[in-house]
Amino acid sequence: MAKYKVVVTDLGYKTYDYEKNVLAAVDAEVVLASCRTEEDVKKACRDADGVLLRSAPMPAAVVASLEKCKVIARYGVGVDNVDVESATAKGIVVANVPGYCDDEVSTQAVALICALMRKTVSHDKAVRAGKWDIGSADPIYRTKGKTLGLLGIGRIARTVAKKMAGFEMKMIAYDPYVTEEQVKGLGVTMVDLGTLLTTSDFLSIHAPLGPSTRHIIDAKALAKMKPTVYIVNTSRGGLIDQKALTQALADGKIAGAGLDVYEVEPLEAESPLRRLDNCILTDHAGWYSEESIVELQTRAAQAVAAVLAGRRPESPVNPQVYTK
Ligand SMILES: NC(=O)c1ccc[n+]([C@@H]2O[C@H](COP(=O)([O-])OP(=O)(O)OC[C@H]3O[C@@H](n4cnc5c(N)ncnc54)[C@H](O)[C@@H]3O)[C@@H](O)[C@H]2O)c1
Repeated sequence: MAKYKVVVTDLGYKTYDYEKNVLAAVDAEVVLASCRTEEDVKKACRDADGVLLRSAPMPAAVVASLEKCKVIARYGVGVDNVDVESATAKGIVVANVPGYCDDEVSTQAVALICALMRKTVSHDKAVRAGKWDIGSADPIYRTKGKTLGLLGIGRIARTVAKKMAGFEMKMIAYDPYVTEEQVKGLGVTMVDLGTLLTTSDFLSIHAPLGPSTRHIIDAKALAKMKPTVYIVNTSRGGLIDQKALTQALADGKIAGAGLDVYEVEPLEAESPLRRLDNCILTDHAGWYSEESIVELQTRAAQAVAAVLAGRRPESPVNPQVYTK
């Protein structure tokens, strides 16, 4: 019998051989579960030494039910489905995998920006419907000289800025934790939130979801924006009040949106967003490439292996657990 038990709470990858290989080196067995509810996670993880989780819920009540867990590693960057505070209080290390898909998500954001600016999807649909009419997707504006706003300028947003540099747009960003000096050389000017909202022609969202950012784009924020603005969200659905966004799109209060993430995922079958022509919808696919998936699985498993072996993982999100 292996020394440790590591539970993968929710599945979705083609193989778990990466995890099995990494964790075998610390004598840990990998157990695959298919948890959807809090009760499922409690049942599967009660006696786990380590947890690898994707979208399964890990609120305070579930953290409290873990009897011997030393580490929870999230397959991804955001840890909004984990109650990190409770984990810290219990001495459990929470780790994530930053940077594994900076290239992929930034390209997804750029792809959505480009598809919106050129109305690529509308033209594609029109041609397939037998039409040949440049005017069918009016209006399209020149992008050179327009303003690209970045909400949050961390790893992914900086990669977006590098990729967008050739478009000769003015680039501005709002991020309360980043100084002008830290983005020097990117061609980005730091501004306050009000300026970001009122002057952006394209707004690309890259902040994490938390109590201070939930619904940062709400009806009031939308009302301040230009009627010609396009909003792109590849970050987390909860950053935008989706009901208010849907209304603004339906009423033509903003020009359009490109969304990879939603308040509830998968997006509800009946969501009115599915019926709106002025938005482009992708299915939280920004992170994915054949390369990123291998990196994600390997590095998440390495984080668990490190903690079980008594080492610090590459990226603890609650480093204060070590000073407790
Ligand atoms: N769509 C996908 O598949 C996908 C994949 C990976 C990451 N993501 C999401 O992308 C987001 C960004 O990831 P990252 O790796 O660039 O993270 P990061 O931590 O490097 O950057 C986030 C930035 O947001 C800033 N920020 C924090 N609070 C803010 C606020 N109130 N207003 C403005 N900015 C604020 C931080 O200072 C930081 O600079 C995360 O939410 C993550 O969950 C999505």
